[in-house]
Amino acid sequence: MTVDPNAATRGFPEPAGRGPRPARYLVPAFVAGAVAVGLGVYGKVHDPAGTAFDLAGFSSTGAVKAWMASAAMFFALVQLVSALMLYGKLPGPAWSAALHRWSGRAAFLIAVPVAVHCLYALGYQTYETRVMWHSVLGCFFFGAFSAKMLLLRWERLPGWLLPIVGGLVLAVLTVIWLTSALWFFRTFGVTT
Ligand code: HEM
Repeated sequence: MTVDPNAATRGFPEPAGRGPRPARYLVPAFVAGAVAVGLGVYGKVHDPAGTAFDLAGFSSTGAVKAWMASAAMFFALVQLVSALMLYGKLPGPAWSAALHRWSGRAAFLIAVPVAVHCLYALGYQTYETRVMWHSVLGCFFFGAFSAKMLLLRWERLPGWLLPIVGGLVLAVLTVIWLTSALWFFRTFGVTT
């Protein structure tokens, strides 16, 4: 005879706060979708302003953005290393959690003005495969990032969820950097 381990609870509601309730993940999923689609629609429907700006020491707007994107990428890699320390996969100092928090804040604060320029001045473009992926993932990044920030506030998350969402945000930022800053440096040289 096979024993059904769920027989005692079948047909009864799940006790409050116990067990997986997939419906609650709809909130961050919905927010992520709304942010990504909202940015994409804005980037697509408005007329790209084409605005350029100068910063002392830099030869062009693109150079400033490529270096800022690289700085954001650097802090994102610090995020990865400090996360591995927090999960005990790498030896780390007592301040690993602070390192994780502050490197995340730095990466985000540096990436935002770059993306604002992309969205406002260049818009959502698809004239090349590289540019199409850059635009799609640029919007997706802010959606996935919003979802991660929401999930961080929640208790009783399954242990695998944050590493997956955090890894996704890092992977997306990496592709954004490859399709923009790396392309810029390869095309125009590694100059400021
Ligand atoms: C984390 C977010 C983002 C980062 C770090 C980033 C970074 C960059 C960088 C460094 C460049 C090259 C410099 C330049 O040509 O101005 C670039 C170009 C560009 N970005 Fe972004 N971007 C982001 C998000 C977005 C978004 C959301 C869009 C539009 C929906 C977008 C659209 C573009 C376009 C159309 C280009 C010109 C591509 C080309 O012709 O090479 N980017 N981005």
